[in-house]
Amino acid sequence: MFLNNYWYCAALPHEVGTKPLRRVICNEPVVLYRDIQGNPVALEDRCSHRQAPLSTGDVRGNNIQCVYHGFVFDDAGKCVHIPHQGNIPSRAHIRAYPAEEKWGFVWIWRGDAKKADASKISHLPWTTDAKRSPVYVYFHVKANHQLVADNLLDISHADYLHSNTLGSKSGIMGGPQPDKVEFRTWQEKDEIHSFRKLTNVEVASFPKKWGNFTCNVDRTNIQMWEAPNTVHVHLEFENHENKILINHDHIMTPETETTSHYFMDFTRNFGIDGDQYPTDEDIYHEQHSVISGDDLPMVEAQQENINLCKGVVDVPVKADKLISAVHRHLADMYLAQDIIVPTYVLVRR
Ligand code: FES
Ligand SMILES: [Fe+2]
Repeated sequence: MFLNNYWYCAALPHEVGTKPLRRVICNEPVVLYRDIQGNPVALEDRCSHRQAPLSTGDVRGNNIQCVYHGFVFDDAGKCVHIPHQGNIPSRAHIRAYPAEEKWGFVWIWRGDAKKADASKISHLPWTTDAKRSPVYVYFHVKANHQLVADNLLDISHADYLHSNTLGSKSGIMGGPQPDKVEFRTWQEKDEIHSFRKLTNVEVASFPKKWGNFTCNVDRTNIQMWEAPNTVHVHLEFENHENKILINHDHIMTPETETTSHYFMDFTRNFGIDGDQYPTDEDIYHEQHSVISGDDLPMVEAQQENINLCKGVVDVPVKADKLISAVHRHLADMYLAQDIIVPTYVLVRR
């Protein structure tokens, strides 16, 4: 049911250490830990002996030992020790996933391991730019991964759901309107792009504080979606007083069909020189409160309705052009991999 031969974001680096971490990814139990060199290791979280989770066991050097009867597996998934027994059958080996740490995230490759190429990991160079500061956040979401992505692909919700925090006031009926609304989408190979600009608009409290804006600004969102499910957002707020830039990347990894892992970096070019507002901690708390307070309750409530009302389809409007473009492309990608197109892709085409 999930696309193969892609890097999926699995964890934040601080979550992976010598204590094993269990994370279900695309319906598969995975255990993550670090080897002696500090590199991430990802194995099936299922001992081949009697299916015990290896994540309840112990990391021993580069290996992991099952806590039930003591089988030991190396970092390639090979069973290297069975207590009181010399021969080890090859069917005792378990699956290993290529794993990489890059741009402040830990990624695993699902698919043909021979095709795993770290240069194919989503490109996030702003996270390592000395003139920027990235803040990382993880959320577990009780909703399908595409529903979470759709929340980012339809940025018009910022002008209503986030009208008091991140967005503008222009989504409110009778509220002040921008002089101009520009919106276009386009595709370049497997990437779907969009550009949205609101000219001369009153923005909400956070961007006002970030840029010390006292007047209206131009608010520009440049977005790019790439498989399996990353939404890159380049955001600019600009007027005669100031111009501030933010890159935030939203990376949705399926846990199951109805639950997801949501990773985000918020990388800004302002407030990075000292302990004045906004510090990394301020940004972390703001982002955490907006996403867990506004976005996630909404997508989880949508998921509940979708579970109850089988077969319903959406009514796309102009602002949904990016969602529709991504869903059409996704449908082709599933078909190209001989996977039945999931209903959550079909309902929003
Ligand atoms: S279940 Fe792991 S050693 Fe028996
Ligand atoms: Fe949002």
